[in-house]
Amino acid sequence: WIRTVTAQTPTNIAVIKYWGKRDENLILPVNDSISVTLDPAHLCTTTTVAVSPGFDQDRMWLNGKEISLSGGRYQNCLREIRARAAEVEDKERGIKIAKDDWQKLHVHIASYNNFPTAAGLASSAAGFACLVFALAKLMNAKEDHSQLSAIARQGSGSACRSLYGGFVKWIMGKEENGSDSLAVQLVDEKHWDDLVIIIAVVSSRQKETSSTTGMRDTVETSLLLQHRAKEVVPKRVVKMEDAIQKHDFASFAQLTCADSNQFHAVCLDTCPPIFYMNDTSHRIISCVEKWNRSEETPQVAYTFDAGPNAVLIARNRKTAALLLQRLLYFFPPSSDTDMSSYVLGDKSI
Ligand code: DP6
Repeated sequence: WIRTVTAQTPTNIAVIKYWGKRDENLILPVNDSISVTLDPAHLCTTTTVAVSPGFDQDRMWLNGKEISLSGGRYQNCLREIRARAAEVEDKERGIKIAKDDWQKLHVHIASYNNFPTAAGLASSAAGFACLVFALAKLMNAKEDHSQLSAIARQGSGSACRSLYGGFVKWIMGKEENGSDSLAVQLVDEKHWDDLVIIIAVVSSRQKETSSTTGMRDTVETSLLLQHRAKEVVPKRVVKMEDAIQKHDFASFAQLTCADSNQFHAVCLDTCPPIFYMNDTSHRIISCVEKWNRSEETPQVAYTFDAGPNAVLIARNRKTAALLLQRLLYFFPPSSDTDMSSYVLGDKSI
């Protein structure tokens, strides 16, 4: 027999960034972060997990290619879910798996991203969240989303925020064992559904410095990170939560852009410096800043993760349509910039 479960998980984009760990193995961050989860129809991971007595080892395929599961991150997630596995009885198909059987049974995992892996579009976030969710369903682990988020966190920090829709906060926690470092939903996807997210894919090439290596170097060398984590982010998180609750787009945009810019400043303050944005990214920032200053109130927020692609959040559908027009005018896909395509997140949260 074979038992399978398929899950689909969207990616999330941080508006207050996570950058820097206080514990690398458990993946515990140096500050809280806040993100918005995209609509699953756009950027998402689909994962099928299967168990069968015929499998002699745990195996995984990512976008059709087999990858090694030996890394600590996968092992941590598998171990944590197995420890919570419960009895499964599927009468229809005559399958009964006792709680203890899960320690001996092996799983096969097939995962697909519908967007470029490791191009700074948070593929690991959707990937680990989906893996943990699918495994929990397969093994009948009855944990709530926050408890599952603490497991997904051990796969990739940002993954913990993809267990929920809407706006999500990853609480850094205080405990050394990480038990209180988990995600909570601030508001669901219906709360602020005027917002439209557009992702300008500046480059779909794999980023040069992975988030993991980059943040390790930052923690070791950047003084600005310490100031950011202790002084700036705690206040910003409070203001951001307030802006989200009140649908205050002007504050939301100001905080989002400032936080993205400080994150990239911290990358520059790292030794050796990390450059995630390129000329096109900088031109997009100037374009949005100019537009926002020419209006009574900001129309668009921008944020960039560990790569050059721009995530643009428009205050409503009308602004999003104008934004897309401007992007296509200033950055035509055939121009000499390396912007190759746009992934349009139409009504994305
Ligand atoms: C810039 O979650 O990919 O996207 O925990 O080492 O797997 P690891 O890092 P990852 O880092 C994401 C960094 C970011 C900001 C964010 O999503 O908050």
